[in-house]
Amino acid sequence: MKWTFDIHNTAQRLFVLTGAGISAESGVRTFRDSGGLWEDHRIEDVATPEGFARDSQLVIDFYNARRLQLKAVFPNPAHLALARLQKQLGERMTLVTQNVDDLHERGGSPKVIHMHGELLKLRCLSLAEHIVEVSERQKMDSVCPQCGAGLRPHITWFGEIPMQMELIQQELLQCSHFVYIGTSSQVYPAAGFKAFAKSRGAIVMCINLDVEPDSHTDLVLQGKAGEVVPNWVQGILAPG
Ligand code: APR
Repeated sequence: MKWTFDIHNTAQRLFVLTGAGISAESGVRTFRDSGGLWEDHRIEDVATPEGFARDSQLVIDFYNARRLQLKAVFPNPAHLALARLQKQLGERMTLVTQNVDDLHERGGSPKVIHMHGELLKLRCLSLAEHIVEVSERQKMDSVCPQCGAGLRPHITWFGEIPMQMELIQQELLQCSHFVYIGTSSQVYPAAGFKAFAKSRGAIVMCINLDVEPDSHTDLVLQGKAGEVVPNWVQGILAPG
């Protein structure tokens, strides 16, 4: 199977899914690698609605620390290359990330679908679920400026439904090429996207540091995203 994506073939559509591995070279910790975030924190304490109900200060502190860290990290060549590709392809490329950092945006990507939410946003606890931008710390007594309700991180916790799933489903149905970059494919529904794309006839490629055999994946580029992705994008933008 060849990666036959042709920049000039307007019938072809590219779906890109990224995970923590694409931000690793920027200095953002992944989750399940050695030294990953889940080695230091219990998921049930900091990444579930029950954990937030039990000790919201602990959860707010956890996300405040990760938000603060964003100021010290910068997009790497993989983010920059995907932004270049997306600017060239426009609506023919869909970028979905499991990451909650803003490195794709800071790398220049014009449209990023954050299915697990965003560190730089809070959400109010009213039914309206107003979104509030936040760049610094969330304080325990912060309230929604629109309705006065309490606030929580705008993050998809375990047991919650990821965001923008209808839009994601539509794009998965239409894509002719699917590539997943820097994800261990351990967490659903994101981990199931490649099988769905494959079942619809898409060509599926994996770009990752660690690679395991996978019946839904046609092509593998093993290596660091910061090195592999720019070459892969260059091959699409300037073939031959
Ligand atoms: N380049 C490419 N891939 C890398 C790099 C790198 N420099 N460094 C690590 N990787 C790969 C690892 O081999 C691993 O397969 O990135 C993957 C990271 O996997 P995880 O840490 O599990 O992160 P991710 O797949 O994004 O987790 C999905 O799980 O905890 C939840 O909500 C959280 O969004 C997260 C979701």
